[in-house]
Amino acid sequence: MTPAQSMLHEATGLTLSRSAVDRAIRHRMEQSPAANQDAYLDRMTPEELTALVELVVVPESWFYRDPQAFQAALEFIRARLATNANHMVRILSVPCASGEEPYTMAMVLADAGVPRASYIIDAFDISPGCVERAKSGIYGRNAFRSQDLGFRDRHFGSDGEDYRISDALRQQVRFKQGNLLEFDLGARTGHYDVIFCRNLLIYFDKPTTKAAIAKLEALLGEGGLLFAGYAEVPSFCQHGFTPLQYPQAFGLRKESARPVPAVKPAAKAAPRTARRAASPAVPAPAPKQAHRLAPVPVPAPSAPAAIDLLAEARRLADLGQLKEAENTSRDHLAQSPDSAEAYFILGLVNELTNKRQLAEDYWKRCIYLQPDHYEALCHLALLAETNNDHGAATALKARAARVYKRQQGS
Ligand SMILES: C[S@@+](CC[C@H](N)C(=O)[O-])C[C@H]1O[C@@H](n2cnc3c(N)ncnc32)[C@H](O)[C@@H]1O
Repeated sequence: MTPAQSMLHEATGLTLSRSAVDRAIRHRMEQSPAANQDAYLDRMTPEELTALVELVVVPESWFYRDPQAFQAALEFIRARLATNANHMVRILSVPCASGEEPYTMAMVLADAGVPRASYIIDAFDISPGCVERAKSGIYGRNAFRSQDLGFRDRHFGSDGEDYRISDALRQQVRFKQGNLLEFDLGARTGHYDVIFCRNLLIYFDKPTTKAAIAKLEALLGEGGLLFAGYAEVPSFCQHGFTPLQYPQAFGLRKESARPVPAVKPAAKAAPRTARRAASPAVPAPAPKQAHRLAPVPVPAPSAPAAIDLLAEARRLADLGQLKEAENTSRDHLAQSPDSAEAYFILGLVNELTNKRQLAEDYWKRCIYLQPDHYEALCHLALLAETNNDHGAATALKARAARVYKRQQGS
């Protein structure tokens, strides 16, 4: 990691590519007297760091993203209120980006007739710009990506070319700037009934993911529900959470918790293999006979050597030693030419060095060799989303969800 990458990693937890960081710094240097990057870093102030962070975060979000999560949360909240009508349901959205996620929860609750006084929604994001936009409640077309836009007619008015959320909903959510990794747990231990933490851990390395999950675990009350991004569920399963059997909701509960009414947990996840830091772990792949490429005749390696190379490639990728991880994956492929996992790691390495097309090619190769490679499917879905290919992203997500469900069942 360069000093600038380390500084931003420390400030946000994000694992950022060197090119993304350099690009952001070049942008900020246009307004700085600093002659070069070192001079710019030497003059760093908290305000400048905040401005730099704004340029590296990915505040991608939209209303009703993965809508089943909100449905599952609604059922859970109704069940909680049915057992105790005086209970104040506390909901947390972190990171909330520009507010699309917590406002969706507020709309779902309003549409279901849940009394406004029976819940509160807290929403945090590290980016002050995001929080300001969230508070303004004004959104462009890009925030409305779902097919059914009835909610927009019900809850938004127009604001020039944009849409403004109703004041009633705006008042229902308390927005604040905050870094999940620095949350003060003092007053908030076990505070929340429902937590949304979606599409954040995918940007974290393994130790940061662990630290973030520990925070979330402490924030979540006994028997509460947590909703993750679809690619993040396995990381939670590795760290003391159990997935719910609620299709496409990507909900989890703490393992120590008693069964949750109305939303039933799935069987405990199988142990996972260790993975690259910024990526979630996936169920250990079952050996596949079908869909293999024609095997290249190579001398059969001793099994431990092949396994060691793969483990070493993963370890190097985790450490950010990308060139070495790439070389080791290739060494492994020389021994096991149809190793889906080696192609998966090559995909990661290329993604981290901003060679997206190559990353995509490797992950496609990976799922060709192993059609149920959950993590490759998730990465391909994210890539399709980044490329605004929402049709492909939805299909890949659905496929990943089917694989995940199947693997939970087996
Ligand atoms: C892809 S958005 C996810 C938004 C929403 N949860 C969703 O799934 O649609 C990621 C957000 O994480 C925020 N973020 C990054 N690091 C963070 C941290 N350490 N604490 C809180 N928010 C963070 C970014 O500012 C960005 O808005």
